[in-house]
Amino acid sequence: MPAIDVGEMSGENTSGTWSHRDTLIDIGSGPSIYQLLSACESFREIIVTDFLEQNRVEIRKWLEKDPEAFDWTSMVKYTCQMEGDREKWMEKEEKLRRTIKQVLPCDVTLANPLDPLVLQPVDCVFSSYCLESACNDVPTYRSAVKNVGSLVKPGGHLIFAVILEETYYMVGPHKFNCLYLTPEIVTDAVKGAGFEVLWSQALGFTFPLAICDAKDTFFIVAKKPSKSQ
Ligand SMILES: C[S@@+](CC[C@H](N)C(=O)[O-])C[C@H]1O[C@@H](n2cnc3c(N)ncnc32)[C@H](O)[C@@H]1O
Repeated sequence: MPAIDVGEMSGENTSGTWSHRDTLIDIGSGPSIYQLLSACESFREIIVTDFLEQNRVEIRKWLEKDPEAFDWTSMVKYTCQMEGDREKWMEKEEKLRRTIKQVLPCDVTLANPLDPLVLQPVDCVFSSYCLESACNDVPTYRSAVKNVGSLVKPGGHLIFAVILEETYYMVGPHKFNCLYLTPEIVTDAVKGAGFEVLWSQALGFTFPLAICDAKDTFFIVAKKPSKSQ
């Protein structure tokens, strides 16, 4: 998750709201923690989730410093360098380990993606490249955006990193299908889920065809209206 100042984008005075950024849920984390390296500086609690038990096991291995855990060191060092001090990487790893409080099963096709667990809605829900691999068609995608959006509290934020115009991606020799999305489909689904879009941008990344046929990566930040609005 990139360091995005939501308040700055929306023109809001965040001095009052930042201190209330207690909980972030990452939906469809995979076996990965890279997307949370900056987020752990802003949230007191992070909940990671994934559909697959194998992925949740990998994250637990990293949290427990299992010698067989994937080595994220180079990514952590790079993130620290981007944040201004590469030497802080060990501190950052410890901070993220402390901040991840739960590793939960999740299915974005369910009305409550964390079913059977019922959580209080949280300050922020983030998801990178998950819904487009979980959904086979646009109606299912729109409904998944609503499902995930239901985990955000009024006044809270929903942030998606999305792969654009991709139909497949490779993990080693294994090919996975991906739902073809455009910025318009994503923006419309987020608005349809009742959110106000604060900011969105395609980043201009291109990818080798050996990995996937994606055309770009798109970020969108949206806010659920407060109850009083
Ligand atoms: C392309 S990976 C993205 C992983 C990670 N967010 C990242 O940025 O690298 C897609 C993830 O979505 C998860 N996934 C697939 N179907 C899902 C579903 N129905 N509900 C929740 N997660 C799902 C997969 O297990 C996988 O970890």
